[in-house]
Amino acid sequence: MAHSPMKYVKGMPTEGPFAENWMNVQNFQAREDDVMINTYPKSGTTWACEIVDLIFNAGDSKKTDREAIYERVPFLELAMANMPPTTQILDNMKGRRLIKSHLPAELVPKSFWENNCKIIYVARNGKDVAVSYYHFHKTFSLFPDPGPWESFLERYMEGEVAYGSWSDHVKSWWKIRQQSHVLFLFYEDMLQDPKHAIQQVADFLKQDLSHEALNEIQRKTSFQAMKENPLTNYSTFPNSIMDQSVTPFMRKGICGDWKNNFTVAQSERFDEYYRREMSGTDLTFCFSE
Ligand code: A3P
Repeated sequence: MAHSPMKYVKGMPTEGPFAENWMNVQNFQAREDDVMINTYPKSGTTWACEIVDLIFNAGDSKKTDREAIYERVPFLELAMANMPPTTQILDNMKGRRLIKSHLPAELVPKSFWENNCKIIYVARNGKDVAVSYYHFHKTFSLFPDPGPWESFLERYMEGEVAYGSWSDHVKSWWKIRQQSHVLFLFYEDMLQDPKHAIQQVADFLKQDLSHEALNEIQRKTSFQAMKENPLTNYSTFPNSIMDQSVTPFMRKGICGDWKNNFTVAQSERFDEYYRREMSGTDLTFCFSE
């Protein structure tokens, strides 16, 4: 599998075709009823997307099991050679659009803010994100080869990976979490009490859910159910772009897997970086169950 080198958009490292398509992203016309699901990569995007789609379909999986998650919730800034960019696909989409994005708040196209579009942001602790991102890099040909874990971790802490710095990203959204059209969630809270998280999302989207619908959404969006579902586990995605023989997309889905990957010295270095980056904010993460 050939990996691709990175380019930069407004100081943020990104994939080459994404950078070339940037004007279309920046000028993208959001509509009032669009809903964006935004995360730093590997923070539970797919999980949140499936929850939102099920909520809008009152937990009826006959309606959500129609297409793969990446078709039901198109990825705003995705652009690949010889394919129409997602911005074009979204322009032609009828009905309510659910839109996935990994852009930091300051790079989200202006029209989302002008239309007060609802945005659900999921943040995950930076150590588990680093591990998940490292494994994902090995499978995903649009990203550069991650090289050895120790050098990947250094680049991650320097913000020299796709979408830049994890800490800048989470802080950019934390700063605006009180805007009424933004819902800020933590992956670790979703793991601990999925039903509560689903209800929070439904309330935010002003969707009533019956008791049965809530239970059904919880069942359908458990890690195991999503791992087994070909419409959520990316098994239908082209193998030449995402090679899951290296590691599955639905890898572990837990809090604290970093302990199996970080050395004590790496953990201490990260803690130092974390303290430095989070000083001056009241944003805190849970790193263990
Ligand atoms: P791991 O690699 O740690 O297992 P994203 O969708 O943003 O790319 O995030 C992928 C991460 O979310 C992976 O983490 C994946 O296993 C985890 N994930 C996906 N669905 C999940 C679910 N239903 N419950 C818990 N974790 C989930």
